[in-house]
Amino acid sequence: MSNEAKDSQFEYCVSCLGAGYVGGPTMAMIALKCPEIKVIVADISKKQIDKWNSDHLPIYEPGLEEIIKATRGRNLFFTSDCTQAIIDADMIFVSVNTPTKKYGIGKGKAADLKNWELAARDIARVANAPKIVIEKSTLPVRTAHSMLRVLHANANEKKISFSVLSNPEFLAEGTAMRDLAKPDRVLIGGNTSKEDQHAVERLVWIYEHWVPKERILTTNLWSSELSKLVANAFLAQRVSSINAISALCEQTGADVSEVARAVGMDGRIGDKFLQASVGFGGSCFQKDILNLVYICETFNLKEVAAYWQQVITLNDYQKERFAQRIIKSLFNTVADKSIAILGFAFKKNTGDTRETAAVYICKHLLHEHAKISIFDPCVTSEQIINDFNEYEALPDGFVFEKCVTIHKSAYDACKNAHAICVLTEWDEFKELDYKKIYDSMVKPAFAFDGRNILDLEKLHKLGFETYGIGKPNVESVDMTKVSTV
Ligand code: UDX
Repeated sequence: MSNEAKDSQFEYCVSCLGAGYVGGPTMAMIALKCPEIKVIVADISKKQIDKWNSDHLPIYEPGLEEIIKATRGRNLFFTSDCTQAIIDADMIFVSVNTPTKKYGIGKGKAADLKNWELAARDIARVANAPKIVIEKSTLPVRTAHSMLRVLHANANEKKISFSVLSNPEFLAEGTAMRDLAKPDRVLIGGNTSKEDQHAVERLVWIYEHWVPKERILTTNLWSSELSKLVANAFLAQRVSSINAISALCEQTGADVSEVARAVGMDGRIGDKFLQASVGFGGSCFQKDILNLVYICETFNLKEVAAYWQQVITLNDYQKERFAQRIIKSLFNTVADKSIAILGFAFKKNTGDTRETAAVYICKHLLHEHAKISIFDPCVTSEQIINDFNEYEALPDGFVFEKCVTIHKSAYDACKNAHAICVLTEWDEFKELDYKKIYDSMVKPAFAFDGRNILDLEKLHKLGFETYGIGKPNVESVDMTKVSTV
């Protein structure tokens, strides 16, 4: 047990390197459920830590603020002193980001493990007692093995033992606190050595504070690492499958929501993750599938790699199709036309914009010289500006202020627009006064619903020309206009 934890009122001390979407909420939940454990969240970014220590948390998650208020300063501490966080802890979660590599071998596919390796080297350098190191970030299979080698090679002379466990996080953004409080399962992977099995027992002990024992699965290290990639690949595959069918529905006059309902009622299939959309986003789906594809290619499993790659190809197709539909409907040109973008986050109840379909759609429209006006209830202007600036492929001569405006209300964003596009399924978009919006728009006024949350028939009656994903055109429900196969 660490000195700090021994000397204080705490029985045990865990720390987490990386104070992002996974590290922050997960540690907050451990602190809430295990008051006798001291929990330290450390990040090299002082700015990020200052936000965690303020009234304005760096991420938005329903229920998170209340838990932080109850635990911060009690047994939950945020610090930018990573060295001390390593020294103090008996168990160290590593939750640093592992984006897709942008350079060298595996560029565009493999996970960039730079941050993870740096964290491992820091632990080896600083540790003065045995540590249990937990992989929390999604990592390629066999990373734990490489990390153990880095840890041992760098701490040999100190004769310190390390155990590396895999404990992937399955929380989804927007429902993180609920997912953490009542997880479908907790997965812990470890080697069979006595030391590692002891480490597994320690981690099981932490989760047992609030998770029923039968939901805590222990597996070997590789199974645990692979399961996370596979779970995300399967979920994304369902979205791509229903999105593929949405294209067919638009051609045949079938309604994708009706098809999804009928198919999902088959108990073997289930009804979740069958919501057709403008395309999936988020920090995990694309990254994890690319990672899976890369691993398959590495082992020369070409057919398997191609199979999973298609899930991404279809997602790109869906985004492209939506953008093309807007342009085609607006008489084949959006040049100098104002397009209102309702929703910029990759899904509702989060301010996260990583891999959001919205950036892709906006970029596409900007290349066609459209003017974009954006409203999202949660994404900050700073974030939207960052997302555009980070973009490599913006049109020549693009000047943000001239082409993009960010608004504080949906009504402002829609004023004088030629079209509105719903790109995130925020509940409040269902309740807007569309008569008021219609009256403020240029005519003919178009509505493109990339999330199928609007009542298109109602909008059509107001005068809108409407388009939903995988929906028959309201004006062409007349069967004579539906193409036959
Ligand atoms: C995902 C996994 O669900 C989670 O278990 C893992 O830990 C991290 O990755 P997250 O990225 O937060 O979580 O969001 P998720 O709810 O899975 O949605 C991903 C994307 O798919 C979003 O853009 C969402 O809008 C889209 N989606 C989801 C659909 O388009 N249709 C659906 O039916 C479901």
